[in-house]
Amino acid sequence: MQILVIHGPNLNLLGTREPGIYGAQTLAQIDADLSEKATIAGVELKSFQSNHEGALVDRIQAAGSEGCQFIIINPAAYTHTSVAMADALAAVALPFVEVHLSNIHKRESFRHHSFFSARAEGVICGLGAQGYQLALAYALEKLKNPPK
Ligand code: DQA
Repeated sequence: MQILVIHGPNLNLLGTREPGIYGAQTLAQIDADLSEKATIAGVELKSFQSNHEGALVDRIQAAGSEGCQFIIINPAAYTHTSVAMADALAAVALPFVEVHLSNIHKRESFRHHSFFSARAEGVICGLGAQGYQLALAYALEKLKNPPK
């Protein structure tokens, strides 16, 4: 069983990037926590971060052919702009949860729209790094008990 976690642009700067909004945890810490929880559950977890839209599209496409069963994605700023990434998720037809550290609905109006949410199984925002943990808990449960 395999889960892929995808992080969009600027999330490599977590820890130092606007910590009042995005928290103090680094991306490496977030990924390590997720990986540990997945390993305990007997699931392989891969993480990928890029600042480049095309690289993110390529990674989503690859997930479709490499046995990945679930995607947890924080598209970051591409949430609000990337038809290409949303199309890639539709093309691979893998279930996914959209995660945002901050509550995008409390922020500038340009952050209120997501090209991803309409296709997501669920959206978690505003709960900081805990949002990733909750998304993982959902994914693990779903993989253990697939809908009949
Ligand atoms: C974000 C919210 C986006 O609006 C922003 O561009 C990000 C991070 C979040 O996790 O809160 O880079 O996705």
